[in-house]
Amino acid sequence: MNIVVFALPGNEALAAALADGLGAASGRLQVRRFPDGETYLRFDTPVAGQQVVLACSLHQPDDKAMPLLFAAATAKELGATSVGLAAPYLGYMRQDKRFRDGEALTSALFARMLSEHVDWLATVDPHLHRWHTLDQIYSIPSTVVPAAPLLAQWIRTNIDAPVLIGPDAESEQWVSAVARIAGAPHLVLEKVRRGDRDVTVSIPDPVALRGRTPVLVDDIISTGRTMIAAVRHLMAQGLNLPVCIGVHAIFAEDAREALRAAGAARIITTNTIPNGTGIIDVTPELVRAMSGLLLN
Ligand code: R5P
Repeated sequence: MNIVVFALPGNEALAAALADGLGAASGRLQVRRFPDGETYLRFDTPVAGQQVVLACSLHQPDDKAMPLLFAAATAKELGATSVGLAAPYLGYMRQDKRFRDGEALTSALFARMLSEHVDWLATVDPHLHRWHTLDQIYSIPSTVVPAAPLLAQWIRTNIDAPVLIGPDAESEQWVSAVARIAGAPHLVLEKVRRGDRDVTVSIPDPVALRGRTPVLVDDIISTGRTMIAAVRHLMAQGLNLPVCIGVHAIFAEDAREALRAAGAARIITTNTIPNGTGIIDVTPELVRAMSGLLLN
């Protein structure tokens, strides 16, 4: 099939799992920083005539974008037949509107930039809120792996009498999908965000939760402030300690520790972000989805 998978720095385990799942070769890509901060990049494995897959989860995307774009452009210059991107976490999806005059619509700009350099994109649950599909901003073919069946499976296996809770209206799409598959009830909290780290939530009907295990489900845990506000609110209502489940564990700064300190009984995430904490493996589903974008 002439497929070769390359890891951008930090994505070595992902690349190895993808190569294994696809029955593809693992290539070697050198990426390093010159003392002045510029990027040096070299394909040690030839790419001419190959379908190249770049493995690069896109949290902290500013650091990753330049090496990724250099790698994609270089692979094409060196004769790769196609260059695809496997990014289990797709960054720059949250600024999906100009909230204030003069703001950059970074979701669309980032999408345009990636679309100019790679031929296809495979990802897991991108933050589609005001954009309803990736096709609205990406001009390349893409495939999206839904994490809901994997989260639902984990909940079914590990939690007695769960009630799934979305911390805000944006989480409704994820929590309702997980609840449906897990066969569990769900509700959504009302959230007000006043700043990056200033979030409050409230619960519509605390009585419905008594005697059940609250399971908070969200797509992204970044600063953790959304989950923390939800955990505190549930505890203030005298409910059981909640299990917190996030698809993408960004865990900016002390988010994980702060969430634990706030009272989360467990913090469960997928491995879309390679920080060693995700226990729900998305790679088999990602491989399946990518197969549709690669030539046999
Ligand atoms: C909201 O738009 C998302 O679904 C998450 O609720 C949000 O990204 C979580 O961010 P943080 O952890 O910084 O509160």
